[in-house]
Amino acid sequence: MYRISPSLLSADFSRLGEQVRLLEQSGTDLLHVDVMDGRFVPNISFGAPVMKSLVGKTDVPFDVHLMIEDPDRYIPDFVTPNTKIITVHAEACTHLHRTVQLIQSFGVLAGVALNPATPPETLGYILEDIDLALVMSVNPGFGGQKFIPSALRKIRALRDMAARVKPELMIEVDGGVTPENVEALRKAGADTFVAGSAILGTDDIPAAMRRFRGKLE
Ligand code: DX5
Ligand code: ZN
Repeated sequence: MYRISPSLLSADFSRLGEQVRLLEQSGTDLLHVDVMDGRFVPNISFGAPVMKSLVGKTDVPFDVHLMIEDPDRYIPDFVTPNTKIITVHAEACTHLHRTVQLIQSFGVLAGVALNPATPPETLGYILEDIDLALVMSVNPGFGGQKFIPSALRKIRALRDMAARVKPELMIEVDGGVTPENVEALRKAGADTFVAGSAILGTDDIPAAMRRFRGKLE
């Protein structure tokens, strides 16, 4: 079981609906929604209104990645009929456990993301209470960056930790994921793969989706 979650950050926003339809026809599992506030990360992307414009236009579940400070203030805005996962950054939360409970109170799966320099042990005492761990394999803020190899080690460590307390934990990897490295990431223990430039950044979205599936099936 694996999931592909194309990042809308690499979309042509003037044709967002059209590109989402192409992803849906290509059998995408999720739509990865990258929200940046210009504070937690050095870039601003888009907010809830852009995401909400897709509600009713697609049945694909949203995989929301909040790269923002004080996420508790905005989490309710991102709850829609499509919202399946909301992920916050461990580095951005003072009371991470409370934030996770807030997300789950809406019937949404709660994810926690770790920046490249944040150790997997950060999740040691919350692992059984979360639904997904998101391993950042680039420093968040921009699409099209180069994969940081230590992410593989972190995925392995989290898979080991989860085996004891939460075997069904979803492990997602985000940043520089390509058809070339996706197999190694899966072997390390990831099951959910975000790709921006390698899918929406290409001029043939269905072909890019097929390339990923070919490596995963
Ligand atoms: C980075 C975002 C990623 C990004 C991935 O801050 O969280 O989701 O869009 O883009 P690629 O796949 O191009 O690295
Ligand atoms: Zn992301």
